[in-house]
Amino acid sequence: MTEIIVVGSGTMGTGIAEVTAHAGFSTTLVDVDTAALQRGMERLLASLRRGVEKGKLSAEDEAAARSRIRFETTFDPSGADILIEAVPENIELKKQLLSSVGAKNEATLLATNTSSLSVTEIAAACVRPDRVIGLHFFNPAPVMQLVEVVRAEQTSAGNIERATELVKRLGKTSVVVRDVPGFATSRLGIILGMEAIRMLESGVASAADIDTAMELGYRHPMGPLKLTDLVGLDVRLAIAEHLTKELGPQFAPPPLLRRLVRAGKLGKKTGEGFYVWSGNDAQKKPTV
Ligand code: CAA
Repeated sequence: MTEIIVVGSGTMGTGIAEVTAHAGFSTTLVDVDTAALQRGMERLLASLRRGVEKGKLSAEDEAAARSRIRFETTFDPSGADILIEAVPENIELKKQLLSSVGAKNEATLLATNTSSLSVTEIAAACVRPDRVIGLHFFNPAPVMQLVEVVRAEQTSAGNIERATELVKRLGKTSVVVRDVPGFATSRLGIILGMEAIRMLESGVASAADIDTAMELGYRHPMGPLKLTDLVGLDVRLAIAEHLTKELGPQFAPPPLLRRLVRAGKLGKKTGEGFYVWSGNDAQKKPTV
């Protein structure tokens, strides 16, 4: 059976591990932080349970998916066919992780789940850069259909094929993009998110009304501010800072975003961002 290791048990890593286990892959979710791993495990198991409660998953399928997942604080990449890192959006961290793995196992496909960082730069730090690729999943990973396959300058054609085949086996759709800052998605998504925050700052409308405008006027499933809460304000800030550096001031994060991040109001995961959250339920705030 194909062995997949997912490193990082935050929102994305946990969601990706759920997807791979559900699709039939033997999966190990790894986090060096025991408490974070425990939280990830609880979220993942709760998500599978919700699938059963909603009738989307049979009890047998849930049990099978659970039996395919292990939760570990260390990992040995030598038996892994595919390693997907989903650690925080910090290029040094990603380079360090993937370069250490590359030295140990030459057969593993090394995937980075980055939203905007240079996959080429990450690959350059690795012993076998031809095996490094970007696999950009979207939140919530179990629901979202797209995975961007990001081709580093060094990625071999065979490994692009391995990655697109994997995405297909996960029941998702891939688009192959060149390694440019923000790829095909974050570049547009961040512009919308940052502009919505600027509009809120300058009093154009309330957060809920800006979101409703895009949900009803443009049929977006979720307005840009609620989406920023879902993704994590810290995550979006890091992407915006990176794209500002790479592409220019149109991506500059507004002061309000920095203020909320400094206050620890990171969105759904901390219970408050542009909304106050209780589970999946977002309540309006009088002001932000
Ligand atoms: N895990 C598993 N399933 C979930 C889920 C989760 N975290 N959240 C919602 N779902 C499921 C629900 O169970 C429900 O399933 P059924 O229809 O089968 O019952 C379905 O998704 C719809 O959910 P809801 O009815 O509760 O709510 P909704 O219709 O508003 O959908 C949503 C929720 C899927 C999140 C939808 O609002 C949406 O698509 N929002 C936009 C998400 C988006 O744009 N994500 C990309 C963010 S950018 C990113 O991730 C990249 C990056 O680099 C940072």
